[in-house]
Amino acid sequence: MYYIGIDLGTSSVKLLLMAADGKIEKTVSKEYPLMFPQSGWSEQKPEDWLSGTMEGLKELLFGIDKEKVAGISFGGQMHGLVVLDENDDVIRPAILWNDGRTGEETDYLNNIIGKDKLSAYTANIAFAGFTAPKILWMRKNEPENFAKIRKIMLPKDYIAYKLSGVFSTDVSDASGMLLFDVEKRCWSKEMMEICGVSREMLADIYESSEVTGTLKKEVAEELGLPETVKIIAGAGDNAAAAVGTGTVGDGRCNISLGTSGTVFIASEKFGVDENNALHSFAHADGSYHLMGCMLSAASCNKWWLEEILKTEDYAKEQENIASLGKNEVYFLPYLMGERSPHNDPEARGVFIGMTMDTKREDMTQAIFEGVAFALRDSVEVAKKLGISIEKTRVCGGGAKSMLWKKILANTLGIEVEWTAADEGPGYGAAILAAVGCGEYESVQAAAEKIVKAVGSVRPDAELTALYEKKYRVFTSLYPSLKAAFALMAENR
Ligand code: XUL
Repeated sequence: MYYIGIDLGTSSVKLLLMAADGKIEKTVSKEYPLMFPQSGWSEQKPEDWLSGTMEGLKELLFGIDKEKVAGISFGGQMHGLVVLDENDDVIRPAILWNDGRTGEETDYLNNIIGKDKLSAYTANIAFAGFTAPKILWMRKNEPENFAKIRKIMLPKDYIAYKLSGVFSTDVSDASGMLLFDVEKRCWSKEMMEICGVSREMLADIYESSEVTGTLKKEVAEELGLPETVKIIAGAGDNAAAAVGTGTVGDGRCNISLGTSGTVFIASEKFGVDENNALHSFAHADGSYHLMGCMLSAASCNKWWLEEILKTEDYAKEQENIASLGKNEVYFLPYLMGERSPHNDPEARGVFIGMTMDTKREDMTQAIFEGVAFALRDSVEVAKKLGISIEKTRVCGGGAKSMLWKKILANTLGIEVEWTAADEGPGYGAAILAAVGCGEYESVQAAAEKIVKAVGSVRPDAELTALYEKKYRVFTSLYPSLKAAFALMAENR
């Protein structure tokens, strides 16, 4: 049988067809626009996601035996606010995970309601990109739109709803809404009250590999698929990527170098760090995880190459980078503000350390290094919690670069491994579909059987020592610029 994984990302939707033994038969991707209506805002149209997904599905299914498709599941960009009215029409564009407009609401939640209460209700504190502050923002700034809300959804759940007619979400994605009691895996009554949201507005909760329904008749007809094709709840993209890279089992780590950059640490037991610097979320395998998330990772390189250098030749820009560990240029990758660990939507991108002989490739290298240092910031928080990370898997668009993986291994001082499917979330989603359809006994069993490392890079002692010194410089930069970022925001 075949299983389809749909990764609803920020730059595109990536669809993947997997055979029962885990072999990837085919992949398709469809891009859609990302809108930045104001500095630090980030929106997309759910209708664009849907048309991209339907087009992508048709292309993916072309020429294959459609009767063999058994299940479809999802990995989706997390935290996005999708709101539907009484006719199930989208009320306004979705406000995305990397949108920083909710500074005021985040402060209200963290300082007036209080971090202690938020952490007790949800296991997390408020970050600008989380869903609850966006609901409060809408209530204050768009009361007419707010009054129309009948359903609140996460991005992938909107697609699942359109395909199946079932209003569902899964535990891992729901964890990022700040409306969900992560430890008990249910909605938080207190948070619903704080946000003025009723239970009916929220979806039913499923574990990630649970079947929620089947394809709607008209969708099955349009795609030429049997109506019996099962829809499986799926996961937030990071939990899905963790499944796709085999990051299931206590203490395992996966780093995603996508539009965002995340450090994902699987954990059998529920746990919260004292300062809530890392997110404490449910995992797609029935357990939990801790996660640090930076808002701009591979997207910094994309911005630098495509917007500034006006080139799409990613490989050529890396050709002249030779002297690792010696670059005098530093880059702070806060192009959309930053979440982990600074929680500062006002932070911005910075190049520093240039001299008259600084070259184009030094700046490109600084981007790779800046992102690696910022990921290390999250790893350092985990270390302080007593978590020791021996090695990590890596996935996402940035993981295609051998150079970036090498910089990462030497910045973190650990072995970095990768698997055959570098697009983790789509593969993880297809695995969840296979588990939901009974092909494998559990998420763990499936991941162990079919996900294997195909390559790795180990740190080099000399290079790690050089990067250690550079990391010390990097960590001094944000604190010295924090006040300037706040002043810049006042002038905006
Ligand atoms: C995680 C997060 C991002 C998005 C990217 O908390 O906000 O990784 O899920 O799609």
